Amino acid sequence: MSETNVWPAVAGIAYGGDYNPEQWPREVWRDDVARMRDAGVNLVSVGIFSWALLETSEGLFDFAWLDEVIDLLHENGIAVDLGTPTASPPAWFFAAHPGARVQSRDGTVMGFGSRGMASHSSEAYRTAIVRIADALAQRYADHPAVVLWHVHNEYGAPVGEDYSEQSVQAFRSWLSARYGSLDALNAAWGTAFWGQHYTTWDHIGAPAATPSVANPAQRLDFARFTDARMRECYVLERDAIRAHAAQPITTNFMANQHWGVNLWAWAAEVDVVSNDHYLWAADPEAEIGLAIAADLTRSLAGGNPWILMEHSTSAVNWQGRNIAKRPGEMARNSLSHFGRGADAILFFQWRASRSGAEKFHSAMLPHAGTESRVWREVVDLGAKLDRLAEVRDSRVTADVAILWDFESFWAQDLEWRPSDDVSSRERIRAYYEQLWRDGITVDFALPSHDLSRYALVIAPALYLLSTADAANLTRYVERGGTLLVSFFSGIVDENDRVHEGGFGAPLSQALGVRVEEFLPLREGVTSTLAWQADPAQNLPADIWQEALATTGAEIRATYVNGPAAGGPAITRHRHGSGTGWYVSTRVQNTGMRTLMSAVYEDAGITPSDLPERFEVIVRRSADADFVVAINHGDAAASLAVSGVELLTGSGVSDSHDVPAGDVAVIRTTAPSGGERILP
Ligand code: GLA
Repeated sequence: MSETNVWPAVAGIAYGGDYNPEQWPREVWRDDVARMRDAGVNLVSVGIFSWALLETSEGLFDFAWLDEVIDLLHENGIAVDLGTPTASPPAWFFAAHPGARVQSRDGTVMGFGSRGMASHSSEAYRTAIVRIADALAQRYADHPAVVLWHVHNEYGAPVGEDYSEQSVQAFRSWLSARYGSLDALNAAWGTAFWGQHYTTWDHIGAPAATPSVANPAQRLDFARFTDARMRECYVLERDAIRAHAAQPITTNFMANQHWGVNLWAWAAEVDVVSNDHYLWAADPEAEIGLAIAADLTRSLAGGNPWILMEHSTSAVNWQGRNIAKRPGEMARNSLSHFGRGADAILFFQWRASRSGAEKFHSAMLPHAGTESRVWREVVDLGAKLDRLAEVRDSRVTADVAILWDFESFWAQDLEWRPSDDVSSRERIRAYYEQLWRDGITVDFALPSHDLSRYALVIAPALYLLSTADAANLTRYVERGGTLLVSFFSGIVDENDRVHEGGFGAPLSQALGVRVEEFLPLREGVTSTLAWQADPAQNLPADIWQEALATTGAEIRATYVNGPAAGGPAITRHRHGSGTGWYVSTRVQNTGMRTLMSAVYEDAGITPSDLPERFEVIVRRSADADFVVAINHGDAAASLAVSGVELLTGSGVSDSHDVPAGDVAVIRTTAPSGGERILP
């Protein structure tokens, strides 16, 4: 979690996107800045993929074109987020250092002609990234246009794990520092299994393609190592910049889109958190996935304002079916990020590319030019954000936390788990989705965090849980918290070893249950849970059951059918002054409301009765609440609120109607009694 937050020096809400002028002749640049002014753009990211044009051969720099671009932007009042181009090393680099190429798990050595960093363990690459970061920082540290540094691009994709020889060697050193001795490593990895015992460090490799399933503890450590090596590369660049420049430094995350990096650790290394988000077009309610990403980003930022570094004005180009955004959708998406704490709304990219792999990706200025719906909406969004300047730096607060631990997901998502149907992503989305529909704002947190400020903590997928983290969750319950744990949680320790005492043992005190056996269901089989409080509300479930024994918990639902028929399915346990709920199956979405209503009651949380697909979030400052209302639905929705609607400047008394597909931001005066629009 980010402790510090240094905001780039841009007035109001920042607005703009990636700007790649090197793809265009100079005369277009003048048109670009004129159009940027028309749209209200005040921040652009420059140079992210420009290494080959900035360092034309090793150590030979050509900054003339970039000088011109940055000066031109500055003359037009547009600030610069200056990229380091290290996600795309030049052809000369790979020609001089062929050994720096990345090797995939199946042994393929990656070629040139695309993008993607070199091996994060290559000394030649590490030297080269420091050289270019240092040269850029020396040249532009004092340029008044430069307000932010953008290191690299989306660490972890397209290059993450690297199986090259230099990576293997670095892995051995990393393991030796982690474990100290081979005995410790053998014990941690459980190498007695399948005769994998190591007698010398030199025999340890990366978990490359193997005849059968590779050692899961080895794979988990390789994921940790990969994350650490990439972060070292980031820190090398960051420190090279910091030696000359005082502006905040960031790198763009992919929260909830790419899970290959442990963003909690990364957030501690940036001055301001920034994130890229793209809608998953196949999802008919993609706004919920967007909200997860935004809430996760805000949580990574420690609740501080964050930068939406990239999203799209309309379709992307890299999904199976790239669905164009419908009129108004871009503004709804942007305002949802804003409502969830983003004080900068940026896009990939400013002007659509004519050449290359992304020519079918939408942009702020599309191929169709200014005579287009997208352009008109871009100009309109710029004007909207201008009217929201006063909301900047206000905060979003949440009473509920969902636990999100990348290391646990890495372990859970390996092969040979009890059922292919169990997905950490799916359960997170299911619980989050119910909270979203109930108008309850969510933070994300690690199980090691201080959770005491949350009324409710949910663990939808926490397969890997250290004993210490389980003790933290147990303490949280003891002291009055409500904890809900979904099945297949608390199963293994940090080395993917099943906890002594059995599945879920470290949480048994908090939950008052003992998991005796997993009982996954066959594909397509559904089951019913008898809801004890009201048989009319029996819950549909599928994919999984458990032979569950209570050791103090009360039974809230039992299995009606399936292998665990008659046994407990959902339990509730009073522990200390709090409550631990355990859900031993996948409750289908239609049953979630019944389940969560009972859980909210324990937590003292009141859900909001909002119309379908009506998203309402509150940002708070010392003297005002800003209610951000986004209507994703097909019918007008009404909100009980008084104040001023900032986008139109009109007064609102008692209630405000938000037309289908529209957005509203209402400044309300915070009632002195603490009464809030939303809980
Ligand atoms: C990522 C990258 C951008 C661009 C977009 C396209 O987020 O950072 O360079 O490729 O995807 O959606």
